[in-house]
Amino acid sequence: MKKKKMSSETELSRRKTKKEGLGWIEWIRGWICIFHEFLFQRLMASHLPNPLPLPPLNHLTCIVTGSTSGIGSQTARQLAEAGAHVVMAVRNIKAAHELIHQWQNEWSGQGLPLNIEAMELDLLSLDSVVKFSNSWNARLSPLHLLINNAGIFAMGEEQKFSKDGYEHHLQVNHLAPSLLSLLLVPSLIRGFPSRIVNVNSVMHYVGFVDPDDMNVVSGRRKFTSFVGYTSSKLAQVMFSNILLKRLPLETRISVVCLSPGIVLTNVARDLPRYVQFLYALIPYFIFSPQEGCRSSLFSATDPQIPEHCEKLKTGDKTICPFIAQECKHTKPSEEAHNVETANIVWEKTIELIGLPLDALERLIEGEEVQCRYGTHQE
Ligand SMILES: NC(=O)c1ccc[n+]([C@@H]2O[C@H](COP(=O)([O-])OP(=O)(O)OC[C@H]3O[C@@H](n4cnc5c(N)ncnc54)[C@H](OP(=O)(O)O)[C@@H]3O)[C@@H](O)[C@H]2O)c1
Repeated sequence: MKKKKMSSETELSRRKTKKEGLGWIEWIRGWICIFHEFLFQRLMASHLPNPLPLPPLNHLTCIVTGSTSGIGSQTARQLAEAGAHVVMAVRNIKAAHELIHQWQNEWSGQGLPLNIEAMELDLLSLDSVVKFSNSWNARLSPLHLLINNAGIFAMGEEQKFSKDGYEHHLQVNHLAPSLLSLLLVPSLIRGFPSRIVNVNSVMHYVGFVDPDDMNVVSGRRKFTSFVGYTSSKLAQVMFSNILLKRLPLETRISVVCLSPGIVLTNVARDLPRYVQFLYALIPYFIFSPQEGCRSSLFSATDPQIPEHCEKLKTGDKTICPFIAQECKHTKPSEEAHNVETANIVWEKTIELIGLPLDALERLIEGEEVQCRYGTHQE
């Protein structure tokens, strides 16, 4: 009883001392990072070949979410051409099969047929995430690489909620990939050493997460798609920091976040037509999807990343590697280093995705974990 009273007092004092938003210096620094990336990404990445050469990857099984367009489709294709077994985790199965057919045709005569398949996954439905994970785990196959690539930035659109009750950016960019990563831990352990690669964004530098209002419905902050996008990307970095720290060394699972750069993809599909036109007029500044997938491929294959993750796990800081668009390690935002908030974001995320708080530890032990989602019969 006394303990309960104390914890509610701590909770009350946390709420009183709680940060309400980014400080203006952090805000300005964040925007400098974004403009710097926009203006100089090509210069900074000028040392990188395009496409990024990959070693033979015949020993790898990879899941790439959102691989029907943009960065994800290039990532999936190049991993498959390097010999990996690639699973395209997509909501549009027909589009994935058409791409597979096209890639097989274009690849024919250059080696063995590509080892690539498609599985259905709709991140706007947590039931679908559980269903996908269950059918993947049921194969009892090792998983070496999970690339959480799928994402949305519904620019200028009004606030929308999924059938699970969560704001769209929050669900697609943060909650659903977090649930997927946790539920696939048993397969990732089987594939050790393995990696979780999160396609994040330079925009997280101007993001702010209010863990008491992740859905942005309290009225304390006005919702815009910009707020939805930037805070979902920051939440992903914070969650990844804690995930890496909590995964014991023996699991040999690395966790990495990355920025692909500013890339000409369908992410701009919701922009007004004239902005899309301007967007396409500045090809010097903007990467093609092939250029934009280099930091994903680097994060997926660089042999030094596991060692780096091990050092971070055992060090004082609670942070996971963040790879910049030029395939170099960089620091995530100052707010991403806020360990207190990151821990609360971790707990809130686990609650929102319907898992028990000790789900990760139990999954590592090989126990069955019940999720609130995925129990509905079709
Ligand atoms: N482009 C940039 O400048 C940029 C910059 C920074 C970060 N990023 C990040 O890069 C990642 C890839 O984006 P992109 O630029 O390649 O955009 P894109 O061309 O729009 O690709 C996004 C992919 O995500 C999939 N997706 C969207 N909602 C989904 C859902 N509910 N369930 C399953 N899949 C879903 C899309 O599937 P459908 O084809 O079925 O819609 C598509 O395959 C995102 O995480 C994005 O935030 C992009």
